[in-house]
Amino acid sequence: MNILILGSGGREHALAWAVKQNPKCDRLIVAPGNAGIAQIAECAALDIMDGAAVAEFCGENSIDFVIVGPEAPLAAGVADATRAAGILTFGPSAAAARIEASKAFTKELCDAVNAPTAGYARFTSADPARAYVRDQGAPIVIKADGLAAGKGVVVAMTEAEALDALDDMFGGTFGEAGAEVVIEEFMEGEEASFFVLSDGTDILPIGTAQDHKRAFDGDAGPNTGGMGAYSPAPVLTDAIAQDVLDRIVAPCVAELARRGTPYQGVIFVGLMIKDGAARLVEFNARFGDPECQTLMMRLGAQALDLLLACAEGRLAGTPVTWADDHALTVVMAADGYPGSYAKGTVIRGLDGLPESSRQMVFHAGTATRDGQTVATGGRVLAVTARGATLADAQAEAYRMVDAIDWPDGFCRRDIGWRAL
Ligand code: AMP
Ligand code: GLY
Repeated sequence: MNILILGSGGREHALAWAVKQNPKCDRLIVAPGNAGIAQIAECAALDIMDGAAVAEFCGENSIDFVIVGPEAPLAAGVADATRAAGILTFGPSAAAARIEASKAFTKELCDAVNAPTAGYARFTSADPARAYVRDQGAPIVIKADGLAAGKGVVVAMTEAEALDALDDMFGGTFGEAGAEVVIEEFMEGEEASFFVLSDGTDILPIGTAQDHKRAFDGDAGPNTGGMGAYSPAPVLTDAIAQDVLDRIVAPCVAELARRGTPYQGVIFVGLMIKDGAARLVEFNARFGDPECQTLMMRLGAQALDLLLACAEGRLAGTPVTWADDHALTVVMAADGYPGSYAKGTVIRGLDGLPESSRQMVFHAGTATRDGQTVATGGRVLAVTARGATLADAQAEAYRMVDAIDWPDGFCRRDIGWRAL
């Protein structure tokens, strides 16, 4: 079958890498892709936010299956457009993608099914929000309602920080996304991510992972899109995972179907775990990046069978084969990230690295210029390895990192520390 993947990050490189190994995959196109993806798939220039353009491209290229990587095209209705054109699609409709695109929507969904999450209040103007913060005190969490590229959440440790965040959001820093603000109770605990496929009716868990959001070792420094991850996440025990499926995921999926907006795609369930109990932090309508890299490395070629079963409504009875293994990914980012950073710096040493079912350097922000690989983004490489133990996977990933010659990049040296 001919497959189109939308996106250009490390997540999409990992999806392409797994899909490509499956004999069902004939032609693989990734739009827009990146320099790493170009080594295993065709890359196409295409406006992935334009549903009509994507549907037309699918027609012209006899695409049988579309996999949507990032949240922005989902929220913009690209999956609606391709499904309406009769193309099998992995990824939720815009209506169902509201579980990520609106924090207030998800809080209200949790209320409707009594799913455990932080207490909250919603505001559309600054004065009542400020009064609420003064009344509740700190720590407290301030969230822009809409998509803000991961920057719309402020975990305020002081009241002053919380009030500043409100000024920013109602002052228009996040545009429309900040027109409504959700203020949440601060939850303590350990965070973990749970990935669950939903075909609208049935759900299938396909893995757990833990991200590292802060830029520097020891969870210091500013928040980022994610500096490394590993899978599985031991904090998400089987008992907690089952409880999350029973009390959070299944009821929310059923409620979305009942409302006439069934959810088809992956649900990224962000959890806070404390004393053996999990509460929902957030839903995302896509795979995590870099969590996806660890999941794809563990699932391999079967990932395509799972995504197809999900898109075709066949999750009931679809098996997942778990290897008893671990995967770990270290993100290499451009110096300065998540602040401003230089583009176009040269990366050497990639050619000599092994590429196998156990080791891959996934590209997140790269291009090829004059035969050289150059950095084009903040997060640039996701160096990923698999091992019989997490320590093995970690050692192998850092061996690969050390073989990469990129003086203008940095990475954390402690990915996996919580589980090790
Ligand atoms: P979100 O975009 O909702 O995942 O928020 C980004 C990050 O903020 C999360 O990964 C958590 O680390 C933190 N966070 C969000 N909500 C809360 C909360 N209610 N309590 C504590 N931390 C939170
Ligand atoms: N790594 C976190 C995310 O993809 O949102």
